[in-house]
Amino acid sequence: MNTITSTTINWLYACNTEDVPLNGGVCVKFDHLQIALFHFSRRNEWYATQNLCPHKQQMALSRGMIGSHSGEPKVACPFHKKTFSLKDGRCLSDEDECQIGVYPVKVASGRVYIGFEITASSK
Ligand code: FES
Repeated sequence: MNTITSTTINWLYACNTEDVPLNGGVCVKFDHLQIALFHFSRRNEWYATQNLCPHKQQMALSRGMIGSHSGEPKVACPFHKKTFSLKDGRCLSDEDECQIGVYPVKVASGRVYIGFEITASSK
């Protein structure tokens, strides 16, 4: 018997666009989960990542500085400046293997939504 797996994205309202500083971030809480939401206005792009920096387990990435690394959008943790890709969460600080989770973002009518994947299996 074959198992069919499907993935859908559940979009949760995070905040309004004006709640996020230009070229900066905020922390959005969904129950116990903290998400760092960034408006990279210089590039007209939005990103969301986990707020937890995996280096020393600090809830800090929403307060990090955003910028670009060879064209790749990135955030630098405010504690020890490890940098992570905002696209796929890879650590861009060369000696490190740690990675962060990233989430899709969409903006509609001045409202910002963060997407969470839901995977379902059926036989
Ligand atoms: S806690 Fe983030 S770089 Fe160290």
